[in-house]
Parts: sequence; C-alpha cells; structure tokens
Amino acid sequence: MSDILVHTEAGITTLTFNRPDKKNSITAAMYGALADAIAAAAADPAVRVVVFQGNETTFSAGNDIGDFLNNPPATEDSPVFRFLRGIAQFPKPLLAAVCGPAVGIGTTLLFHCDLVYAGDNAAFSMPFVNLGLCPEAASSLLVPQMLGYHRAAEALLLGEPFMAEAALDVGLVNRVLPPSEVTGYAQSVARKLAAKPLASLVETKRLMKKGNAALVMATMAEEGASFGRMLGEPAAKEAFGAFMERRKPDFSKL
Ligand code: COA
Repeated sequence: MSDILVHTEAGITTLTFNRPDKKNSITAAMYGALADAIAAAAADPAVRVVVFQGNETTFSAGNDIGDFLNNPPATEDSPVFRFLRGIAQFPKPLLAAVCGPAVGIGTTLLFHCDLVYAGDNAAFSMPFVNLGLCPEAASSLLVPQMLGYHRAAEALLLGEPFMAEAALDVGLVNRVLPPSEVTGYAQSVARKLAAKPLASLVETKRLMKKGNAALVMATMAEEGASFGRMLGEPAAKEAFGAFMERRKPDFSKL
C-alpha cells in the first residue's frame, strides 16, 4: 500500500496521506509522488478539483524528521520544492480535509488551498523555530497576511498548536465538523465545484491570486535557501536529535 494514495473519479483527484504508523509524516519519496500527482492534475483537463486528506485522527506530522536529516533537500528541484511550487501555482480549486495534527507543512500547505474543512480535533502548528528552522511554503508571507502580524508571530515564533475553532476565527478553515464527517463534506463541496465550468473556476482563482503570486514565489525561494542552510546548523541538529532520542532539546549553548 502506497504512502500517498491518488484517486481520480468524476473530475476530482483525491490525494490521501497514508502513513498512519508515522503520523502521515512526509518523506522525499512522498513529496515526489505528491508533486507528480499535482502536475498531472494540473495538466489533465478531465480533473477539475484536487482534495488533500489524511484520516480521522491525523492529517500530517509534517516532514519526516529522519528522512529530512538523511536526505535533506539539496536543490531547487528537490521533491519538496517541486511539491510546494506545484501547490502554489495550481490553477484549479484545491481543497483540504484536516483532522488531528497538521504540523509544519501539514499546516503551511493549507495556505495554498482554496477551501479547508477541519475536524473539531484538528490541531495546527508551525514549530519551525522550535526545530531550529525558519518558515517554508511562503508561510512567512501568507500567515501574517491571513492572521495579522501579532497572531502570526504567536504561531510562528512560539510555534504552539492552535485548534480548529481558532483556525475558523482567523479564516484558515471554512467550516469545523465532527471528524467522521470531514472527508465526506469536502468531497461534497468538490463535487459541487466539479460541476461548474472549469475555465471560470481557473480564471476566478487566477484573478484572486494574481496580486500575491510573484511575491509568494520569491518568498518561497528565499525561505527555501534559509531553510536548507539552517538544516545543517547546530540548532536544527540539536532539535532533530532530541526528537529522535525523545528528549527536550537544549538550545541554551547555541
Ligand atoms: N517524522 C518522523 N517520524 C514521526 C514524525 C515526524 N515528523 N512524527 C511522528 N513520527 C513517528 C514517531 O517517531 C512515532 O514512531 P515510532 O512509533 O516508530 O516511535 C510515530 O510516528 C508516532 O508518533 P508519536 O509522537 O508517538 O504520536 P503522538 O500521537 O504522541 O504525537 C505528533 C503526534 C504529530 C503531535 C507528534 O508525533 C509530533 O510532534 N511529531 C513531530 C512533528 C514535527 O516536528 N514535524 C516536523 C515539522 S517541520
């Protein structure tokens, strides 16, 4: 069974994180599969909508920490960067159904989605600072734009989780539902969108996004360069080592 399930039916491609034993954390191979599926969905005129989902208890624990340490993204063509550019530039509606933890890229990818539905158990977090890193996926731009600067600073500097109701308040989430209803609801919205004229959907999304588009790509590139450098620095090594050894990191000497 693949760690990323790709299912296309009736104009809707559903991408499912399917690595429950590792909390749907994402390896380079999984980013590659996601990037390929996103590119295929963008190019295929029969696909009108893409939906991301996990399961009822977990959306994604973000980057697979061991894989990231052993296999850090080395170039702009690394699978993670291909995936991020793919979702930032995806021309058709992108939806997400989120239950349980959505850590790191599990949250930042949602800023590139058009509609987000969350279970009341959803917990969003962007703990990049706690990992000795910096934001990615243009989140240093998109989080302040959506949340306002001070709430963004709380989310990105402290890195503490916030729950579904708070995400609804700030506009990251469209609707909060019982976890058992989230994927079904997202699919019902995807079906509504898939019945609409694709050219109108694409043009409407392009017009809404165009003011920010160049800045998003430039921010993503700048963040990517910093993130790549910081992965090799002592704070990230301490944070990742601490996660693997199940202890608290000690940044006091850094
Ligand atoms: N990378 C690699 N493995 C991960 C992982 C990650 N990001 N997140 C969880 N796992 C693994 C754990 O190591 C554990 O594996 P094991 O059973 O072989 O020991 C398994 O998934 C279950 O994780 P656990 O921490 O026991 O689950 P939990 O329900 O107590 O907590 C999370 C869930 C998501 C809150 C917690 O796992 C977590 O904080 N993960 C790290 C998130 C993170 O920092 N991501 C990087 C963002 S850049």
